[in-house]
Amino acid sequence: MSQKRFWETHVIDWEASAYEGAAAPGFLEKVASRFRGHLTVRFNMACKLLQELRPVSLLEIGCGQGRLLRRAIQEGWIQRGRGVDISTTAIENARLLARQAGLGEDCLTFQAAAVGEMDPAWLEGADAVIGLGLLQYLTDEEYAFLFGHLRGRTFAFDWHGRELSAINLMHTVYRLFRRYPFYRRFSEAQIRSLLAGYGFERPEIRREDCISMFVVRAPGSTN
Ligand SMILES: C[S@@+](CC[C@H](N)C(=O)[O-])C[C@H]1O[C@@H](n2cnc3c(N)ncnc32)[C@H](O)[C@@H]1O
Repeated sequence: MSQKRFWETHVIDWEASAYEGAAAPGFLEKVASRFRGHLTVRFNMACKLLQELRPVSLLEIGCGQGRLLRRAIQEGWIQRGRGVDISTTAIENARLLARQAGLGEDCLTFQAAAVGEMDPAWLEGADAVIGLGLLQYLTDEEYAFLFGHLRGRTFAFDWHGRELSAINLMHTVYRLFRRYPFYRRFSEAQIRSLLAGYGFERPEIRREDCISMFVVRAPGSTN
């Protein structure tokens, strides 16, 4: 199954399970939601980062249904948001939820596209770029596109570590049952080497719970 086809059918259940726990439909997602507290930790890490950075405009890649972008605008951490996701289902819902929240296209817009097919001007025009739970799903070509267009920008992504742990073991079983198309895990050394390959030598690494995130700041940025 392709990454796109997978996320067209999976994204709604995934988000319900990740953030709404008991409301998640289906037995597997209900069980999985018991082990997803770290996803709220990740979301909160992103909120904290945005409060520090206060970028005027933010691009979120792999934005799902736009939860983080809506929150960032409503809290006044950013003025304008753009969201990109491979899943048309996610983007249609993101547009609907933004309208329902009273957020017009003057402050929040979305594009249904895979990294690699998205408008590069969106990457180059944002003050900051963020992606949560995204790097796991990208191909080498998509890394080249993404990091190639991020020079001079502030950006932050989390990654899924390679360490042996009960949660990683359960996640592997879950992926098998859920038939995830493909999935990458990294050591910190691999992340550093990936970034160094694109000229980003000194990422700041942040960790909370089992979440690992790197932040690269635009040259000269003070926040
Ligand atoms: C694990 S979910 C995370 C969603 C959201 N960022 C969050 O943390 O709540 C991964 C998201 O990445 C999107 N995605 C996967 N592969 C992608 C790609 N190649 N290009 C753009 N989005 C992608 C999926 O559709 C999905 O919404």
